[in-house]
Amino acid sequence: MPAQRPGAYGADVLDPLPRARPRPPSDVVARLRAAGCVFAEEEAELLLDAAGSAAELDRLVARRVAGEPLEQLLGWAEFCGVRFVVEPGVFVPRQRTRLLVREAVARAAPGAVVLDLCCGTGAVGAAVAAAVGDVELHAADVDPAAVRCARRNTAGAVYCGDLYAALPVHLRGRVDVLVGNAPYVPTGAIALMPPEAREHEARAALDGGADGLDVQRRVAAGAPRWLAGGGHLLIETSRAQAPATAAAVTGAGLEARVVRDVDLDATVVIGTAAA
Ligand SMILES: C[S@@+](CC[C@H](N)C(=O)[O-])C[C@H]1O[C@@H](n2cnc3c(N)ncnc32)[C@H](O)[C@@H]1O
Repeated sequence: MPAQRPGAYGADVLDPLPRARPRPPSDVVARLRAAGCVFAEEEAELLLDAAGSAAELDRLVARRVAGEPLEQLLGWAEFCGVRFVVEPGVFVPRQRTRLLVREAVARAAPGAVVLDLCCGTGAVGAAVAAAVGDVELHAADVDPAAVRCARRNTAGAVYCGDLYAALPVHLRGRVDVLVGNAPYVPTGAIALMPPEAREHEARAALDGGADGLDVQRRVAAGAPRWLAGGGHLLIETSRAQAPATAAAVTGAGLEARVVRDVDLDATVVIGTAAA
């Protein structure tokens, strides 16, 4: 595992300098590979670093082989070059969500008010804040475990509750950039997700209702009340769901466009309020 130094937003920035690392025992790599871990060598090194003893390493490997997400075993996930705390059950930030960050950063001027709704670990808002350098960051989530993580991972204000009901009224009409990676998996598709997700991430982090858009629709419907003039709402979605997500954004009175990154397999719908 690379050495760490404190990050500007409460999390740890990964040190790019390579360091000599002890090699994990070959049987550990073999157990992980047999369990289907594609990056068995790298995972073994990370678990070795995380374990305080041979017995603890054995326990961590057993839990990984049984299907627990690597990030929840380590207690952190890397996202946009920063290490974020992840408690058990909390959604692990996905690499595709870098598109959401990129598009938000492009729209956040210095001094912008940024709101990360459905923030999970808070990684999205924190990454935007780190890239822009000077933002007023607010974040909210309904899951107390996620809120605990976000409070450790960001320097912003983090609220606990159901979408906009969690927010202080003074934010109304002031948000320049509202990012929302709300749950968008259709209920019927959850059974098809990898066990790492469906058994170890909170149901509320995944389940978006019958067509996956229940929470997104509520995010879109509420956004105009909180956005500043000319402000932007950015919602991560899937390629297949993008037209319906865009319709929800348009239905809320915002001008919608869809941005896609093929390499990340990522789709973001961006709604813009009238100036
Ligand atoms: C897909 S996860 C995304 C987390 C984070 N934004 C990220 O990209 O890593 C969705 C998050 O939405 C939260 N959530 C679901 N329903 C919510 C609601 N009604 N109000 C607030 N947060 C909600 C979940 O607890 C979960 O943390």
